[in-house]
Amino acid sequence: MAKQPRTLITLQDVQRRVDTLPTLPEITSFVMNLLEDPDSSAQDVSNVIVRDASLSAQIMKLVNSAYFGLPQKIADLNRAIALLGYGRIKNLVLSLSLIRVFRTISKKQREDFSKFWEHSAVVAGLMKRVALRLGLEDPEQAFLTGLLHDVGKIAMMGYFPKEYAAVVKAAEEKKESFVDAESVAFSTGHAAVGAWMAKSWNLPADVVNAISSHHDEGSWDDDLLSAALYFSDYAARSRGAVCAGSCSSAHFDERAWTRLGLPQEDYFEMMAAVDSERAIAEVILQVTGATEAEAV
Ligand SMILES: [Fe+2]
Ligand SMILES: [Fe+2]
Repeated sequence: MAKQPRTLITLQDVQRRVDTLPTLPEITSFVMNLLEDPDSSAQDVSNVIVRDASLSAQIMKLVNSAYFGLPQKIADLNRAIALLGYGRIKNLVLSLSLIRVFRTISKKQREDFSKFWEHSAVVAGLMKRVALRLGLEDPEQAFLTGLLHDVGKIAMMGYFPKEYAAVVKAAEEKKESFVDAESVAFSTGHAAVGAWMAKSWNLPADVVNAISSHHDEGSWDDDLLSAALYFSDYAARSRGAVCAGSCSSAHFDERAWTRLGLPQEDYFEMMAAVDSERAIAEVILQVTGATEAEAV
């Protein structure tokens, strides 16, 4: 008997299933607005953070964690912000508020979630480093793009767990990329799903475009943010910060690095930075995981 052709899941199927995409927390929008306001100050950020008790608690836990190695315990949010610096606090607030959203969507598939988080946070950190080297106007937007670039995988993980598991299995067994393996269950891909999510959250068009094209080699020709993302994604994977089902020995099109126009020593510096970005990603995962457990 002829085998029935398998029905693949389309982008519309994903959109229908994800009919209640969690909204971004209010705090994320506040922080993103502050990022765009050149006159904003550390005090503005503090005013936003104190409105969210759980976020404030997480920031204080982070600041007092062994990672920052401060000589004494800090009990005051303003002091914490002053110590860490405005730029760093903005990144932490974005990371802490988005990890909450990611956890909600992924429906707590713990192991794959941890890998996903580590990869996304490392790519975000590298994106910011590259953006600063390039002198881009908005390094925080680059950070946000890195944090969200694989968010489509989270929707697959949470809303299509069986199919997502089949993709991961196929990728691992055939030693192929996650993108190639997606076709065992989906006619769409995590980049398209993620771009749809980012658009639903009214994120800037540059962020949506970079997410949408992050596996399209050559998409960086007239877009530095996409070139930075392609490179940062590769750097994270090649140093072992990989999502489930992604291969660490993935192909890299050197033209993306050339497009960035940075000196060769920056390449090695970014590769070496993966370990420190991984360390902070791990602390954030622990702090937020512990806070959630306390809340149960
Ligand atoms: Fe990806
Ligand atoms: Fe990625």
